[in-house]
Amino acid sequence: MACFVINGQNKIEGEMTVQGAKNGALPLLAASVLVRGKTVLSGCPQLTDITAAANILTYLGCKVSACGDVMSIDSESASGFAVTDSLMHEMRSSIVFLGALLGRFGKAELTAPGGCEIGLRPIDLHLDAMRTLGAVIDETGGRLICSCPDGLKGARITLSFPSVGATENILLAACTAKGETIIVNAAREPEIKELAGFLNSCGADIKGAGESIIRINGVKKLTACEHRIGQDRIAAVTYMAAAAVTGGSIRLHFKNSEMLMPVAEPFEKSGCRIIQDENGVWLKAPERLKKLGMIRTMPYPGFPTDSQADLAVMASVARGTSTVVENIFENRFKYVGELRRMGAQIRTENRVAVIEGVRKLNGAKVVSHDLRGGSALVVAALCAEGTTIVYGIHHIDRGYEKIETQLNGLGAEIFRKE
Ligand code: UD1
Repeated sequence: MACFVINGQNKIEGEMTVQGAKNGALPLLAASVLVRGKTVLSGCPQLTDITAAANILTYLGCKVSACGDVMSIDSESASGFAVTDSLMHEMRSSIVFLGALLGRFGKAELTAPGGCEIGLRPIDLHLDAMRTLGAVIDETGGRLICSCPDGLKGARITLSFPSVGATENILLAACTAKGETIIVNAAREPEIKELAGFLNSCGADIKGAGESIIRINGVKKLTACEHRIGQDRIAAVTYMAAAAVTGGSIRLHFKNSEMLMPVAEPFEKSGCRIIQDENGVWLKAPERLKKLGMIRTMPYPGFPTDSQADLAVMASVARGTSTVVENIFENRFKYVGELRRMGAQIRTENRVAVIEGVRKLNGAKVVSHDLRGGSALVVAALCAEGTTIVYGIHHIDRGYEKIETQLNGLGAEIFRKE
């Protein structure tokens, strides 16, 4: 089993350019089957989730090629609308192909993604929205057999929760539907704005992306274009946390650093100095972090659920007591048991974790159960005394491009062992 071996207590110092965003790239890859012609995506991170999406596109008949961080997808030859169970299971967010396939072919056959490591993750909002747009969906046996007997028609869709994936699916399906679609209580994450921007460059008519109400006027045709994928705000926070827990300093080259605003406050509360400008973020950590107070995860522009584990590690070595309340997913504290093995003092009850900071963590053998919990264990290992072995690193490879190379470049001692 592959693992990371990490010798802790080296200061993370230096500068780096943050990778392209996984969560930004995945809906764009799905969109490439919706738009006709050759989509060229640059800044594409090399991650197993991206490979999984590329495998789905190839299976659907697209011509996919990659050169460095540029991925080209020619959808002209796409003819498939059914994705096999095994391809769907490679990553949960494959559900975002639903809207793209319905938009392109008027039909889709996918597997309903099951519950995963961080929670039940139902897809009722996705399915209700597709039905409101005119899809007929048969859910027998875990397969989703979808068709649109009368085509897709614009409608008003009010989301009971601003789901990122459901908003993306609606955007994809509604672009070429007949008439106007209005999404009320849409997700406002930067990835929504990016997807809408890409689709508009392909000829779509979407207004209000990034706000709670999005209006989409259906157009007849979408034509592929070139697009540069935005940088990964979640990975950026992981590297900031790595510098914070080791008393280091880091300069991140990051365009659109205003999307890091939701995390700035707890970093500053912990005593880190942060300077943001148009080229990125600079962070300087104190010798020892101060308590972070109360962190509540919320939809954007609230504090991101994907960053709570990284900040919990900061709280674990800070002076004083901090609290994390997880409001988005119901099972996002799996990393806590592993952090306890390293000496962290954390109590959890349902969605709340109370963290009493300790002076130092100790190296231990720990297991990553999910992507962001895994990156947090790496952060913990960087400041722990002694050697930590992190297993289950395939989860981390889903979202972090060459994390060990990046961290070693910043002064860490981390090795991958196959
Ligand atoms: C996306 C991100 C993920 C991030 C999450 C929240 C991708 C690939 N993944 O996931 O990294 O943590 O946004 O920012 O972009 N829900 C329902 N029914 C639905 C859909 C969602 O009840 O049909 C619930 C979920 O169980 C969860 C909440 O809504 O409790 C938020 O989920 P959602 O915003 O949809 O997250 P994802 O799109 O899956």
